[in-house]
Amino acid sequence: STVRRHRIAVIAGDGIGKEVVPEGLRVLEAVSRRYGFGLEYDHFDFASCEYYLRHGAMMPADWKQQIGSHDAIFFGAVGWPETVPDHISLWGSLIQFRREFDQYVNLRPVKLMPGVPSPLAGRKPGDIDFYVVRENTEGEYSSIGGRMFPGTDREIVMQETVMTRVGIDRVLKYAFELAQRREKKHLTSATKSNGISITMPYWDERVEAMAPQYADVRWDKYHIDILTAHFVQHPDWFDVVVASNLFGDILSDLGPACTGTIGIAPAANINPERVFPSLFEPVHGSAPDIAGKWIANPVGQIWSAALMLDHLGEREAAAAIVSAIERVLAEPALRTRDLGGPAGTIACGQAIADAVE
Ligand code: NAI
Ligand code: MG
Repeated sequence: STVRRHRIAVIAGDGIGKEVVPEGLRVLEAVSRRYGFGLEYDHFDFASCEYYLRHGAMMPADWKQQIGSHDAIFFGAVGWPETVPDHISLWGSLIQFRREFDQYVNLRPVKLMPGVPSPLAGRKPGDIDFYVVRENTEGEYSSIGGRMFPGTDREIVMQETVMTRVGIDRVLKYAFELAQRREKKHLTSATKSNGISITMPYWDERVEAMAPQYADVRWDKYHIDILTAHFVQHPDWFDVVVASNLFGDILSDLGPACTGTIGIAPAANINPERVFPSLFEPVHGSAPDIAGKWIANPVGQIWSAALMLDHLGEREAAAAIVSAIERVLAEPALRTRDLGGPAGTIACGQAIADAVE
């Protein structure tokens, strides 16, 4: 029988990216051995500030050819503000991937893990377990608009929201299908059709039009203002939450913030059609303040590996990683310093790899 194989482009980037990516790979090795599939890695040194200092650009001109045919990109973090301004490092790398590879879904799990104190009183692991699906390419973040009569009393500033049928439908389809795979089969749509009276009613219309195709999925919608309150007061209500670019940006920070520290949060930038590789990364950045100390929490990176395997169809292996993370975080001695524990980056990563096997 032929072994399933996946080709992964690995980009560690800067700072703690170089410390946590190896732990992600360690856990991937362990889980691929156990579940019998193959992973091939190609490592790339671009999309880092060191590369920029050597070459005067964040990436080579042919970066798209170099990583465009891989099955996924496993990414650490980019940024070293001491030597390269953040807008150069970010726009020259991550933003290019998201746009050029049409990664129109931004996916973030919101799950309360053992050993991670929630700022929400009285919540325990199991109470909070949902996904935020953010539209990642259009909507409120458009470059259509401008400024007229700058510096005068007549100054006019406009920026148009762009919503397209194709753009909305494809992210809704992803969200409905995700809901369909989950136990609760529940989709929540973020709207604001009372205030934003043209684009948001259109968004709602598309949700309504698509819902009958997913008859087993229960769906509802909330205006974004009360929805943020519900995230805090009733996080147990949610299963899959889908939102436009702006609303999703807010919800995908608020959700993970309700379930703990930046050190454990993962994210996926997905091109569901697989025309291009999708990118999996921790939510945190390169953390220059702790880089080189080997105390960074590797869980965000390792959880990103789970999202990657899920996308590659290795669902059991993905679930095994999440379960291993849960078991390790339940042990105070295996937690890193940001969680009040004594473990270093490698000890925590090794423990998760051991728990997988
Ligand atoms: P950051 O996420 O790097 O750090 C924020 C704070 O959280 C720091 O105190 C840091 O020590 C702590 N922290 C972050 N990850 C941690 C981990 N795994 N374990 C323990 N503590 C952790 O954000 P910051 O400081 O705003 O940005 C630093 C650099 O990272 C900048 O150059 C920025 O542009 C870049 N950045 C890159 C991102 C990416 O690659 N996707 C995302 C966010 C920032
Ligand atoms: Mg944000």
